[in-house]
Amino acid sequence: MARLSDARRVALSLVVERRLRGARMRELMRGSAALDALGPRDRAFATRLTFGAVLAEGLVRRLIEARRRPGVRLRARVRDALSVSAFELLYLSTPTDVCVSQGTELARRADPHAADVAHALLRALASHDLPVIEAARGRVAVGGNDEGDLALVAAVPPVLVRELVASRGRPFARELLVSLSEPAPVYVAANHLVQGDDEAARLLDAAGLDPRPVGMGGSFALGRPAGLARSGLVDDGRVVPADLSSQLVAAAAAPAPGESLLEVGQGRATKTLLMESCVHSRGGLARIHAIDASPFKVDLARGRLGRLGLGERVSCQVLDGRKVAEGGLAFAPEGGFDAAFVDAPCTGVGTLRRHPEAVWSLADDALGEALRSLGALQTDLLRAAATRVRRGGTLVFATCSPLRHEDEDVIRAFLASPEGGDFSVRDVLESAGLAALGPRAVTLARDLAGPTDLEGCLCVRQRLGGPDAHFCARLVRGT
Ligand SMILES: C[S@@+](CC[C@H](N)C(=O)[O-])C[C@H]1O[C@@H](n2cnc3c(N)ncnc32)[C@H](O)[C@@H]1O
Repeated sequence: MARLSDARRVALSLVVERRLRGARMRELMRGSAALDALGPRDRAFATRLTFGAVLAEGLVRRLIEARRRPGVRLRARVRDALSVSAFELLYLSTPTDVCVSQGTELARRADPHAADVAHALLRALASHDLPVIEAARGRVAVGGNDEGDLALVAAVPPVLVRELVASRGRPFARELLVSLSEPAPVYVAANHLVQGDDEAARLLDAAGLDPRPVGMGGSFALGRPAGLARSGLVDDGRVVPADLSSQLVAAAAAPAPGESLLEVGQGRATKTLLMESCVHSRGGLARIHAIDASPFKVDLARGRLGRLGLGERVSCQVLDGRKVAEGGLAFAPEGGFDAAFVDAPCTGVGTLRRHPEAVWSLADDALGEALRSLGALQTDLLRAAATRVRRGGTLVFATCSPLRHEDEDVIRAFLASPEGGDFSVRDVLESAGLAALGPRAVTLARDLAGPTDLEGCLCVRQRLGGPDAHFCARLVRGT
C-alpha cells in the first residue's frame, strides 16, 4: 500500500466538506486549518487539486459513469475521492502510475472496500480518456480552437464554449478557456484613504507578499499571496484584495469628490471601498448610498465600512434594486444622484477560476435559462437606477461575465426602454476616475480590452496569468 500524500488527503477532505455543507470552495479554503498546516508546496498543490476537482466535476462525473461497470455502486465519498484523482490524472502532469496508486489510497480512505473499484476505474480513464484529452490539448497548444477540443481541455460544458465563441469570437474564448488551467492571480489595491502607493508597497513587501506594480496607480499583483490574510493588511484596510478588472470597473464608476452616487448590488463593499479610495486620490470623498437585496451582505458591508471609518460617507440599505424607482431609498438627493453604479448579479463566467462551482451549474439548458432570467433582472436594475440619476449624470453598468446576453444586449435593451431614452454610451476608457489612476492605467485598460460591438464599452480579456473577464458600460444622461 502506498502512503497517501498530505496534499491529496486535505484536498479530499475539502471536497467532501463542500458537498456536505454546500459551501463555496473559496470560503471553505479560507478557514481551513488543515490547509494552513501544509507547507507552501503542498498547500499550492492541494489548492490546485481542490479547485480543479470542483471545476472539472461535471466532466469527470460523466466519464466515470461511462466507465463504471453496471451494478457497481459508488458511495458519495468515493465519488469525491475519484473526482480529485481523476482530475489529477486527466489534467495535471503527474505520472499515471502515481495518480492511480494515490487515487486508490484516496478511495480506500473514503471507503476501505472501494480500493479495487477505484483502481479499475482510474486505469480505465487512463487507457481510454486520457489519450483523447491529451490529443485535444496538443491541438489547442498549437493554436487549435475547435469548440469540442476547448470544452475538453478546459473541462467545461460545451454549451459554455459555444456561448463564449458566439459572444466574443474564438480567439477570446480560447484565451479564457486556456486560462482556467492555472489559478487566478491575486491582486490588491492600495487603500488611498489610509496611505500612498509607496507605503502600501513597503508594507506588502515587509509581509513577504512580493508585490509587483501592474502599471495602474496603487495596484499590485502578489508573487507570494499565501500570507495575505495572515498579514493583517486586509483587516486593517491598508489594502483591498480585488481582481484588477474589478479595480478598473470601480475606477470607471467612481464619481468626482463631493458628488453623490447610488450603488446597486454592493455585495461586501469591495468596489465601494475602491471607489472611495479612487475619489480620495482626486482630493475628497463621495457620498455613496449603497443597496443590496441580501441582508447578510449589507450587514457585512456596513461593518466593514464602519471599521474603516467610512460610516459617515457611505450608507448601506437592504433593498431590491428593481424598487428604487418607487421610493424606499433611505437617502435620495433632490434632483437625483450625480451618478449610479449597477454592479449586476450575473453568471460569473469571468470569475470561474475563483468560483469553480459555477461551471457545471451552467451545463446544457441551465446556461440559456440563467442568461434569460439574469438578462431581464439586469435590464430592470438598470432601468430602475436610471430614474435616480440627475440630468447630465452618469450611469455605469458592470458584470463579471463576457457573455453578450448579459452585457451589450442588456445595454441595448436599456437604451430602447423609456428610462434609457435620454442616455447615451460614453467611452469607459475616458472616465475621469480611470484617468486619476495615471496615464498608464488607461493604456493598461486598452491593452486588456477585448472585442465589443458597442463602441465605448469595455470587455476585459482573460488570459493566462491575467485578470478576470469583466464587462463595463458607461452611460451619460442628457441635460
Ligand atoms: C456582482 S455582485 C456585487 C459585487 C460587489 N459590488 C463587490 O464589489 O464585491 C452582485 C450583487 O447584487 C446583489 N443583488 C442580486 N439581486 C439584486 C437585486 N434585485 N437588488 C439588489 N441587489 C441585488 C447580490 O446580492 C450581489 O451582492
